[in-house]
Amino acid sequence: MQTVQDAPALRAAIRGWRSKGQTVGFVPTMGNLHAGHQSLVRLARARADRVVASVFVNPTQFGPNEDFERYPRTLVHDQAALADEGCDLLFAPEVATIYPYGAELSVSLRVPQITATLEGAHRPGHFDGVATVVCKLFNLVNPDLAVFGQKDFQQLKVIERMVRDLSLPVKVIAAPILRADDGLALSSRNQYLSPQERARAPLIHDTLLKMRELLGQGHPWRAVEQVAEAQLTRAGFAPDYAAIRRAEDLAEPEEGQREGLVALIAARLGDTRLIDNLLLD
Ligand code: PAJ
Repeated sequence: MQTVQDAPALRAAIRGWRSKGQTVGFVPTMGNLHAGHQSLVRLARARADRVVASVFVNPTQFGPNEDFERYPRTLVHDQAALADEGCDLLFAPEVATIYPYGAELSVSLRVPQITATLEGAHRPGHFDGVATVVCKLFNLVNPDLAVFGQKDFQQLKVIERMVRDLSLPVKVIAAPILRADDGLALSSRNQYLSPQERARAPLIHDTLLKMRELLGQGHPWRAVEQVAEAQLTRAGFAPDYAAIRRAEDLAEPEEGQREGLVALIAARLGDTRLIDNLLLD
């Protein structure tokens, strides 16, 4: 697997494949790769002739008090993890390559509606940064398809909207959430957890399962949200939300609606903010 840092080298490698009629699948990441990321590469591998991954800790999607500085950077490990999955090319640019005119952008994408709630409401500007960098990466890589994890469910929806409304020629593929044996969704941020916190963290997934069960028993969705938040708070989490939404657009469900729903949780455990979700179909 080749690693390139700048746009001309990236474009040159991809041009060679394209001239042979090969298709390109793309997996954007912020690195510190785990089995969840690797499953995305496998999915891309199965759907395209060539796979490009990117590792870029994108400053414009972190808030001023978030973990941009301490976000783990593990390029050598990431290269091995990608090569193991048969990734063909890694794009690992410097910040100045992606933002040569500084992080104060003169053009930025906004994907309103879908970002007014949940993560968008708790992390102002986050999805503007995500949409802008992913659009930029799409323009650099020019992939036929790109794989995103359902772990970041709202992010997946943002990308789908961006692609749809801007007519970007990329097929977006959703990958299922990979979990540890105890149910905790794999995440680069799990390593911030102390051993005690790590032992308690699976309660997030347990709570999602509980939400599904209560809703299935006919409890109103608002009541289910309250039970879930209370359960998390009692166990020492600080939940930002435990929500039931329409999977399609993240709007609040109709009264009595049971189809096409998703349960989503964001909660802090100590200094670590964890998110997870569960499709309720
Ligand atoms: P990152 O958090 O590194 O995640 C990269 C991709 O891996 C995302 O599509 C995410 O949903 C997926 N992923 C993470 N954990 C997963 C798990 N347990 N199971 C399945 N997929 C998982 O998301 C980002 O980076 C950035 O916002 C990015 C899209 C790269 C833009 O900067």
